[in-house]
Amino acid sequence: MDHVNTQSTARVQRSFSRSFGTYHESAGQQARIAGHLVQELRNSGAPKQFSSALEFGCGTGHLTHQLCTAFELGALTINDLSPEAHQTATDVGANFLCGDAETVDWPDQPDLVASASMIQWLPDPTAFLRRIASALAPGGWLVVSGFGPEQYRELVQIGTAAKAPGLRQPADLAAAVQGDLEIMSTGESLRQMHFASPRKVLEHLRQTGVNGRAQRPWTRSTLARFTDEYAQQFTTEAGVSLTYHPTWIIARKRG
Ligand SMILES: C[S@@+](CC[C@H](N)C(=O)[O-])C[C@H]1O[C@@H](n2cnc3c(N)ncnc32)[C@H](O)[C@@H]1O
Repeated sequence: MDHVNTQSTARVQRSFSRSFGTYHESAGQQARIAGHLVQELRNSGAPKQFSSALEFGCGTGHLTHQLCTAFELGALTINDLSPEAHQTATDVGANFLCGDAETVDWPDQPDLVASASMIQWLPDPTAFLRRIASALAPGGWLVVSGFGPEQYRELVQIGTAAKAPGLRQPADLAAAVQGDLEIMSTGESLRQMHFASPRKVLEHLRQTGVNGRAQRPWTRSTLARFTDEYAQQFTTEAGVSLTYHPTWIIARKRG
């Protein structure tokens, strides 16, 4: 991993660690995405039991809890960059693997690999998916969500530095694993949240830890310019908008 990557990973970690106490309640979109992933996994004909499951970027456990409720998981290992996520592992009796998903040692041949709303923070999410595809046990399942290019399009349009590096279309996720895995389902959705003001948008971002790549602190004048431009361009009858663009893939390794 190069120096620039190490620095930005450390920034992402600090940002999620800071938001750990507020994330679970504030991340309504991510909670919905986790629920959707589990539903899609069941609808795709996944077995009820897995002997060795591995989850990346577990955070406060939106996906972890739903997986544990919907499936019987023999050994469960959950990973996160932020040490605070150890609590999630304790809550469900899982092993905790702390560190960057790209560099920690993965358990051998899991038969389920899951991740919700994390891969967009990786510089090359498709290389990561290819690595999962080759690590899976024969017949094993992959269930992963990320975000597409329309994620936070308002912020991108205004030119803030909060954009995640690994925004990918569902077709890119599928293309990454197509040789090794059978694609069971891919999809995306576009959703707009609305807030009373641009300041409330920033508060939402802070509470959900997603401002990890903002590089410079606000000054009075940059903040004023941001709030003016945001209100001018994105005010609707329901308030100012913020777009979410979740994408996902479910695939199975050939037996
Ligand atoms: C948006 S949260 C999603 C948490 C949870 N999966 C959910 O659906 O609510 C992203 C999580 O990924 C973690 N994360 C970000 N980059 C990571 C990396 N390179 N390796 C492991 N975890 C990472 C963050 O610490 C954070 O807890």
